[in-house]
Amino acid sequence: MEMDFLGETVIDEDTISRRVEELAQQITGDFVQAYGEETQLIVITVLKGAFIFLSDLIRLMDMDLRVDFMAISSYRESTRSTGAVRIFKDLSESIYTKNVLLVEDIVDTGLTLSYILRNLVSREPRDIRVCTLLDRVGRRIAPLDIDYVGFQVGEDFLVGYGLDYQQKGRNLRYICRLKTPDHDS
Ligand code: PRP
Repeated sequence: MEMDFLGETVIDEDTISRRVEELAQQITGDFVQAYGEETQLIVITVLKGAFIFLSDLIRLMDMDLRVDFMAISSYRESTRSTGAVRIFKDLSESIYTKNVLLVEDIVDTGLTLSYILRNLVSREPRDIRVCTLLDRVGRRIAPLDIDYVGFQVGEDFLVGYGLDYQQKGRNLRYICRLKTPDHDS
């Protein structure tokens, strides 16, 4: 497969899987402690980037859960989102009075997440918490409290484990940075 856009590995496969397991245990433990062994969780993911993380995370969560998806388009200026978001696939079930975990692959400016969170909170779930695999806190515009963070990352454009470069590279088992002519050629 032609992947000449890939630079050096930033987070390898073992490191990702160990952290995903820790997050799964922590999230399960927290919800069970708060709401009891029989509690049900609705796990929501915004397509596409988080689907790999979601699938690994939920298979390590030993609790009653359901999965639902949203698809949005965020209007971007070059690589930065503007905060304007259109939902073109909404949830298939109500989250009213439910416990919800929103799963993201990366939070960058935070504009996408803050829009989605406002939208979901308006549907009156009992509890809503956020888990992101990657947090690029240095680029944050919208202030956010994120409950569960896999890794803090820097400014590099990242590819792999669900994250894409022009829709390519989502299937990599690790996360690497984009090759740049200045650094990698
Ligand atoms: C990524 C990510 C978040 C958003 C974060 O999605 O999944 O939804 O960007 O950026 P922000 O914090 O600056 O708003 P992307 O638009 O790359 O789409 P994809 O998940 O389909 O790859």
